[in-house]
Amino acid sequence: MTGAETERRYRELDQAAVESQAAALAAVAPAAGLLSLRGELGAGKSTFARAFLRSLGVTGTIRSPTYTLVEPYDVTPPPGGPSRVLHLDLYRLADPEELDYLGVRDEADHALFLVEWLSQAHGELVADLEISLSGCADRPEHRDLVCRASSPFGEAWLARLAAT
Ligand SMILES: Nc1ncnc2c1ncn2[C@@H]1O[C@H](COP(=O)(O)OP(=O)(O)O)[C@@H](O)[C@H]1O
Ligand SMILES: [Mg+2]
Repeated sequence: MTGAETERRYRELDQAAVESQAAALAAVAPAAGLLSLRGELGAGKSTFARAFLRSLGVTGTIRSPTYTLVEPYDVTPPPGGPSRVLHLDLYRLADPEELDYLGVRDEADHALFLVEWLSQAHGELVADLEISLSGCADRPEHRDLVCRASSPFGEAWLARLAAT
C-alpha cells in the first residue's frame, strides 16, 4: 500500500459536468501515459475525449477514430503535460498485432493516449488511469463517473487532480 488515493467517484453528472471533469484531468495530465475510457456504447467516452482535447486547445474538427482507430493531435502542453495526444477507439481492432501497423507503440513514451475499448488490445496497451462512465436510472442525461488509478503514474495524476 502506498497510501495514495486510487479512486474518485462522481454521481449523476450532466454532460457539462462530465466535460469539466475531462478538462480538469487534462489540466494535470502527464506528458505520456494511457487513459482508458470505459462504458457501453453511448456512455460518453468520445464526449469525454473531445472535451479533454478541446481543453488542450484543439480547435478543429475532432473526428471519431471509429474507422481510422487512431486520431493524433499535437497540442500546446500545459506545464508538465502532453504535447501529443492520441485518441484511439479499438472497437474495430481485429487483432492486437494491428497496433504495430498503426504505429502507436512507437509513440507510447512521448504521447498521451486516450483509449476507448482498451480491452480489444488484450493487454498489449496498459492503462494508467481508467474512467468508467455509466448511465443513471431514470436520468438519461446524467452519468456516474469513476476515476481509478491503475499504475503509480495514474496515482500521481489523481494526486495532482486532488491538489487542484
Ligand atoms: N451526462 C452526459 N455525459 C456524456 N454524454 C452525455 C451525457 N448526457 C447525454 N450525453 C450524450 O450521450 C452521447 C454519448 O455519445 P458518445 O460520447 O459518442 O459515447 P461513446 O463514445 O461512449 O459511445 C452524446 O450524444 C452525448 O451528447
Ligand atoms: Mg466513442
